[in-house]
Amino acid sequence: MKDAKITVPALLARKHTGPKIAVLTAYDATMARLLDQGGADVLLVGDSLGMVVQGQANTLPVTVDEICYHGRAVARAAHRAHVVGDMPFGSYQSSVEHALASAAHMLKTGGFEAVKLEGGVRFAEHIRALTSAGIPVMAHVGLLPQSVHAMGGFRVQGKDESDAERVLADAIAVAEAGAYAVVLEGIPAELGQRITERITIPTIGIGAGPGCDGQVLVCYDFLGMYPDFKPKFVKYFAELGSQIVAATQAYVREVQAGEFPSAAQSFGSSPKKQPALETGQKPVLPGAPKPYGPAGDES
Ligand code: KIV
Repeated sequence: MKDAKITVPALLARKHTGPKIAVLTAYDATMARLLDQGGADVLLVGDSLGMVVQGQANTLPVTVDEICYHGRAVARAAHRAHVVGDMPFGSYQSSVEHALASAAHMLKTGGFEAVKLEGGVRFAEHIRALTSAGIPVMAHVGLLPQSVHAMGGFRVQGKDESDAERVLADAIAVAEAGAYAVVLEGIPAELGQRITERITIPTIGIGAGPGCDGQVLVCYDFLGMYPDFKPKFVKYFAELGSQIVAATQAYVREVQAGEFPSAAQSFGSSPKKQPALETGQKPVLPGAPKPYGPAGDES
């Protein structure tokens, strides 16, 4: 039997019942299917895609339509995980009405079950309006990547007592406005613990220490695909980056030497006849992505 879909009430309950909530980012169906199979509770289509998928210097250029494009791919593959879409820079800041229109568009066309937005006290009114309209909101306080220029870079927040009070006030404001969870990014571990004990919604940490109710990492980070840059808060749970480079080197070597493809990967001169497809019939079942190319049982 398939595991039931993770819901907003189920995530809220985990604050009290545990286990802690495991969140990962995902941007495409193949990765989402694997992370879902691995038991990730939440898949976040983060605006981090601007950096890790598009290769931009920060998240600012990402658009709502780009988030929705990746969201549809992730939503098709996420059978158990709850799917959240990040509201990109410029899609909610100007007014509550704009936030409502953008979030509704994301739920309608991105396959999302909730949205995430950056900001605390200043965006409490936006969060209240979205949740009143039935749109679940995951908030995000502490280090806010969309405010990279205002913050003078990707800097740890809440290091002194008055700044810690500011971040705490942001977390309280978003919880009181109706957010069902809040990402705590780039703050000291003691502050992560303090906020987690103070508010009634789950805290999801990224560089916020072990005291949070859950953790989030960018999928390429936890898979070790950036061997040249490892932020302090990242742990590699695999070393796929070096494996991909080694696999590519092996492939290049075999292609250049004429060793690949061998007979095992080659079609015979008289392949078995394939049954004809009905008009409009798709050769690949939805939800079960196949490797690219024709079926491989021919000799
Ligand atoms: O954009 C993103 O991926 C995020 C997470 C890292 C929290 O905001």
